[in-house]
Amino acid sequence: MDTDYIKNWLKENLTPERYVHSIGTAGCAVELARMYSLDEEKAYVAGLLHDCAKCKTKEELQDIVRHKLNDMDPQELKTSKILHAPIGAFVARDSFGIKDAEILSSIRWHTIGKPDMSTFESIIFLADKIEPSRGNAEFREKILKILEENRGRKGLKKALFLCFQATVKSLAERKLPIFPITIETYNELLESQNE
Ligand SMILES: [Fe+2]
Ligand SMILES: [Fe+2]
Repeated sequence: MDTDYIKNWLKENLTPERYVHSIGTAGCAVELARMYSLDEEKAYVAGLLHDCAKCKTKEELQDIVRHKLNDMDPQELKTSKILHAPIGAFVARDSFGIKDAEILSSIRWHTIGKPDMSTFESIIFLADKIEPSRGNAEFREKILKILEENRGRKGLKKALFLCFQATVKSLAERKLPIFPITIETYNELLESQNE
């Protein structure tokens, strides 16, 4: 995988902030991949590409959905902010030739989540939330501490639970709809906290 090509493309197609966030997520994904003995190059590529569709216009996103995607939840279609995840997976496959199922699904589910995320999907999800340019050092340290103190899947489930707890709370406070799959993920993680 030609990561220099990907980086140049991102630089040209994303805002400077989104580019920095993507590089940060890729770096963080490598850190986490090392912790869980996963393929670091794959993690780097998934981190780089996770937001590759983020700067497309609402019209461009809807056009791709209409013509190219058929596995969308009807509710997902209503929320243009999160469309960049399924479309990002499509762009990664279609424009960058990514065939790896783990990379594609980690991009696909990095916004709304899904129950029983694989270790690879989980580390990309977390890297997106804790990469340094997000500027939330306290949350980043908290998540890293959880992962260090609880090795394996247990730590991932604990860290993911914190993320979903914050997401559900924030959506409810802002009177925004919560996707059924996000609630299912929250419930699954909640149940796993006492295992
Ligand atoms: Fe995203
Ligand atoms: Fe992101």
